[in-house]
Amino acid sequence: MSLYGWIIYNGNLITDKFMDYVQWFQKTAEDVGVEVEHVANNELLVSLMNGKPTFTMKDGISLKEKRPDFVHFADKDLHLARHIEGMGIPLFNSSRSIEICDNKSYMYQVLSLHNIPMPNTIIAPKIYEGLPVKNSAHLELVKKQLGFPLIIKEAFGSFGQQVYWINNESELEAMLTKLGGKEFVYQAPVTTSIGTDIRLNVVGDKVVAAMKRTSETDFRANVTAGGKTMPYEPTEEEKGLAVRSAKAVGAEFAGVDLLFGENGPILCEVNSNPHLRSIYECTGLNVADYMVRYIKSVVPERGVRK
Ligand SMILES: Nc1ncnc2c1ncn2[C@@H]1O[C@H](COP(=O)(O)OP(=O)(O)O)[C@@H](O)[C@H]1O
Ligand SMILES: [Mg+2]
Repeated sequence: MSLYGWIIYNGNLITDKFMDYVQWFQKTAEDVGVEVEHVANNELLVSLMNGKPTFTMKDGISLKEKRPDFVHFADKDLHLARHIEGMGIPLFNSSRSIEICDNKSYMYQVLSLHNIPMPNTIIAPKIYEGLPVKNSAHLELVKKQLGFPLIIKEAFGSFGQQVYWINNESELEAMLTKLGGKEFVYQAPVTTSIGTDIRLNVVGDKVVAAMKRTSETDFRANVTAGGKTMPYEPTEEEKGLAVRSAKAVGAEFAGVDLLFGENGPILCEVNSNPHLRSIYECTGLNVADYMVRYIKSVVPERGVRK
């Protein structure tokens, strides 16, 4: 059976990085004999017509068929993701796993139910937008439990850009003022892993590629934050933790970041939309190739055929 799929991206986030991902995935799919067309989330409107889910597409949209065999979701538009699933089209990753991974508070909370070693974390209490921020009530508890230094991570963030190192009380207060009503977590630093981590790409129940990232100048090892990459041969324990973490959040494709703990690997985060280029440039491995082959192997039994 030859497959036909869509890759969905965000029509308001057309950066080189994201378009590179879309083209890379399409090209790889073509090489594996799977046709994939790209569609922006703002060209495919979630429509509920006569009480039924359907798509509204712009006139003349060139999609060969209006119903693909599968969709690869390279965005975080959860309403659209759920809609596609609701229409019975196999979606990679699932909307639930994208939702969990998109929000670090939710992600750590789910992982904590699955016996995954992770840094001690406190989820900041909800603040309603527009109300004055009165942090003092919970700060004493955070300081008692975690102390300084600590790390603050905004719930929604990537490339290390919304992850902050906090040395003392005045830095903490300045950060809380800056964050306003945003969601975030407090986290204990893993001191044996400052400036270094490993990224393991999981496809299905396998680790298909891995690299180590190290920054000389920053506690964050992200490539975007200046981290240098080198190929890495993960231990069985590291591979096992990566696969278990991806499964815990329900992600069939995942970029799992692990820290080097004193007594073994510690989960840093699970990304449901890991990028493809830096892992390829580091290891020569095309993760998209594994992804497309995985889709090919599971869609026939999962798909609702037209
Ligand atoms: N608890 C921690 N201890 C030490 N380093 C950390 C910790 N959490 C994150 N880091 C570093 O910061 C980087 C970015 O954090 P991460 O949670 O992966 O956010 P992002 O989604 O922005 O990549 C990680 O790759 C790691 O190098
Ligand atoms: Mg990360």
